[in-house]
Amino acid sequence: MIYDLSILGGGPAGYRAAELAGGEGLKTLLFEERNLGGVCLNEGCIPSKALLYSAKIYDYMNGGGVKYGVTCGNPVLDYAAAVKRKDAVVKKLVAGVEAGLKKAGVEIVREHAVITGRAANGFAVEAAGNVYEARNILICTGSEPVMPPIKGIETCMTNREILALTEIPKTLAIIGGGVIGLEMASLFNSAGSKVVVYEMADKVAGPFDREVSDELQKIYEKKGVEFKLGAAVKDVAELGAEKTLASVGRKPSTKGMGIESLGIPAERGAIITDELMKTGVPGVYAAGDVNGRHMLAHTAYREAEVAVNNILGRRDIMEYNAIPSVIYTNPEAAGIGETLESARQKAISASETKLPMQYSGRFLAENEGGSGFIKLVWSGAKLIGAHMLGNPASEIVSTLSAIMYREMSLNQIKKIIFPHPTVAEIIKEAVFHA
Ligand code: NAI
Repeated sequence: MIYDLSILGGGPAGYRAAELAGGEGLKTLLFEERNLGGVCLNEGCIPSKALLYSAKIYDYMNGGGVKYGVTCGNPVLDYAAAVKRKDAVVKKLVAGVEAGLKKAGVEIVREHAVITGRAANGFAVEAAGNVYEARNILICTGSEPVMPPIKGIETCMTNREILALTEIPKTLAIIGGGVIGLEMASLFNSAGSKVVVYEMADKVAGPFDREVSDELQKIYEKKGVEFKLGAAVKDVAELGAEKTLASVGRKPSTKGMGIESLGIPAERGAIITDELMKTGVPGVYAAGDVNGRHMLAHTAYREAEVAVNNILGRRDIMEYNAIPSVIYTNPEAAGIGETLESARQKAISASETKLPMQYSGRFLAENEGGSGFIKLVWSGAKLIGAHMLGNPASEIVSTLSAIMYREMSLNQIKKIIFPHPTVAEIIKEAVFHA
């Protein structure tokens, strides 16, 4: 049997591509050696959100509700129960992915797959001693945590182990104050750990707008998290914590899957792709973290669609200019496009409108004492970036994503009707003040 498409990796890029390709009638084969759903569903995005939600409810009960006139005696965070629920959420979603793939007629091989070279009708992939032939290959093997040469790094947890904990450590050291570090600091601080975040840079939250990062840090300092900036950790033992999380970034997973057998060009471990998600070898595509371009699940979904559409002969182009990023702390932070700082570094003449979230009635009603804000970054009348702190930034940023993707003018944005009262109305307010 010759397949139309062999997909390596069943994470967001792989399963989206497989479902789409199968649904379009391509004979599709998906190889996954661990769990369908990949890191995102099993040990990343979803389990962390489930646990963070338990922590949020606990925060409200544990004194957070007082300012809203709600008190509660002796709340308990039963962490083992929260973990059980998290596992059930993951199981349900993974089952949903599997059902979707089956419905689309995708054949799933639960083995480690290795590309072994060219075959008569395309390419050969070997898994558990069997050789499979396909006309096209899509590599979606994702990424793995970076483990820098720090003494004792092998004793550290990664996202995988920390999300599998069933007990709360008394003390938690976090190396790296990026997205994972901040979300886990939020979770374990709420759950009762004494958390210290060690960040090498002079700000947390990496490329996020500096004011968003600084304000988020202040909010968490008030909640009891300690931050040490400019702190490049050299020895894990010196941190003296019961548990330590290493969250210093992720790198594409390309080892041991035979990319050399086809001479697929890669740079610093990342498979090089163009805007059609093609690699340097015709017929071989790569989508998701493995190409190292924009390592987020939602980017992976879109890249997967672009790859499959091009395999189907429908030209589709991947655009990276309107991809939102979110940090699911409480409050949430979100950003899209340029910050004023990044625009200036690129010599783009830009200006900024900043508005406190309190301009939204709904925000005021639901965020007592909240210090959030939104910033819109303009190049003339064109919106080139937006950054915000405040709940629910993760939902509001979708509207900004649509605005930026469609390259709407200031006048067009002004005519959008938002439901009232919503926090998303802050966009309208900010535009009104632009
Ligand atoms: P990251 O790149 O967001 O942050 C890593 C941080 O570690 C940086 O701020 C860096 O300066 C710091 N660092 C590096 N080496 C260090 C050292 N030796 N000592 C102290 N600090 C050091 O990476 P993170 O948090 O590990 O997340 C990895 C990826 O996972 C992200 O790129 C993101 O794509 C994804 N992710 C996305 C989430 C979301 O969208 N909400 C949530 C969690 C992860």
